[in-house]
Amino acid sequence: MLEDNPRDAELIQELLEADHFVCEVTRAQTRAEFVAGLENAGINLILADYKLPSFDGLTALKLALHARADLPFIFVSGTLGEEVAIDAVKIGATDYVVKSRLSRLVPSVQRALREARERAERKKAEEAFRRSEMYLAEAQRLSHTGSFGWDPASGKIYWSDETYRIFECEPTIEPTVQLALDRTHPDDRMRLRQILDCASTERSEFTAEHRLLMANGSVKYVRAVAHPSTGEDPESFIFVGAITDITERKRGEEERDRLRQIEADLAHMNRVGMMGELAASLAHEIKQPIAAAAINAMSCTQWLCGDAPDVTQASKSASAMIAAVTRAGGIIDRVSSLYRRGTPARELVDLNEIVQEISVLLGNTADRNAVSIRTDLDPALPTTTADRVQLQQVLMNLMLNGIEAMHDTGGKLTVASKRTEDSQLLISVSDMGIGLSIDEAERIFEAFFTTKPRGTGMGLSISRRIIASHGGYLWASPNAGRGATFQFTLPVEETASSPSAV
Ligand SMILES: Nc1ncnc2c1ncn2[C@@H]1O[C@H](COP(=O)(O)OP(=O)(O)O)[C@@H](O)[C@H]1O
Ligand SMILES: [Mg+2]
Repeated sequence: MLEDNPRDAELIQELLEADHFVCEVTRAQTRAEFVAGLENAGINLILADYKLPSFDGLTALKLALHARADLPFIFVSGTLGEEVAIDAVKIGATDYVVKSRLSRLVPSVQRALREARERAERKKAEEAFRRSEMYLAEAQRLSHTGSFGWDPASGKIYWSDETYRIFECEPTIEPTVQLALDRTHPDDRMRLRQILDCASTERSEFTAEHRLLMANGSVKYVRAVAHPSTGEDPESFIFVGAITDITERKRGEEERDRLRQIEADLAHMNRVGMMGELAASLAHEIKQPIAAAAINAMSCTQWLCGDAPDVTQASKSASAMIAAVTRAGGIIDRVSSLYRRGTPARELVDLNEIVQEISVLLGNTADRNAVSIRTDLDPALPTTTADRVQLQQVLMNLMLNGIEAMHDTGGKLTVASKRTEDSQLLISVSDMGIGLSIDEAERIFEAFFTTKPRGTGMGLSISRRIIASHGGYLWASPNAGRGATFQFTLPVEETASSPSAV
């Protein structure tokens, strides 16, 4: 309260208190006192006289407006003329009350305080709103997700800043469906148009994944989702949605696909590379049933062409011929799967059966290297869910490596299967060859690591990957005596992991 007259000051306070205002009055009479009072954060209201011995109300008003624009400022004065009062309100006073009509004081103070409170609340709400707007804009920028609104009836479209950035449009440009379509890659335009047409006629939510072709020729992948939202008028609706720039994710996926393909190609090359080794064994394996078929064909002809043709005997020979040829076909089938570039498939497999198959196929290679293959298989071995061709590939890699390690010396290659105590399948391949040095034991699993003049160094890295993709582990250890042992585990139960294209 800026007031030099103590009696007036008392009167004003009494009036307010009579109306249940709880007042704590800080009285000022000089400029210094007034300025000091302005610094008091607890002040809610300024009541000011107009004329004081050493100070004046107008200057006080200007000081208050400068320092505390939020504080209501009411002139309470005896000398305030109408004109001056209006001027004072013009420059920012909240109200004025003449001392001869102090009955106006209480309503004036009440209104001033109410309005100040409302202003403060509005300001707080605006600040909260601005803050949430800022957070939203930041979140949109960080997640590369812009928002949009679209009124299909009027064609009006709203874009957030991030949506403008995704479309690389100046924020001054008014967005339209046509603009969005123009920015869309020509190959995706038709599809997008259909999606939008369909969604707006059926009032249904939509998702569109399409490309944008930017002015500089670069391509962006975006994904838009929107749903219809009804306003007050249930007849009208707008789409509210979000559009995300998914270019990085798409590029990542493409890169992963590319790597997966390279891996699959390498695995395939590895399999085809091994086929050379198998050729001799295969020829031998297939020759037997074919020779048997030829003999049966011969006797069949004899039974038919004699003086008294014996159809019963002839058909017996023909049946034997069919059996022999079918057997040859079966051998080719089993091996040709290694040539094919099939997608991985899971089935129930009997590992013992695979070990035996590969042992037969590698028989010739083993013979040439003076290696004898021994198997030590657990007859009660449970089956596992796995990709048969991939497991054949692993065994062939390990067994070929073992044979190659005994190239100079010959020896015994032992393949064993058993069930471990923690219920896994364990296959081990042991040789009596050159063995492994400590620092080689891990490096041999690196792709392209080889110590062989014509090696590729792919066998072990591919094998380890295959076993890992089946939920197992493949490792090597030096033998106590000569040679090395390679072992891998496989879960008995079906694994949740999906097969990968190794
Ligand atoms: N049974 C083994 N005994 C000793 N060394 C081995 C054995 N198996 C693999 N290695 C070593 O691991 C390397 C990598 O094997 P691998 O990945 O199958 O490729 P590659 O057989 O084409 O060399 C071999 O060159 C060899 O040095
Ligand atoms: Mg190898």
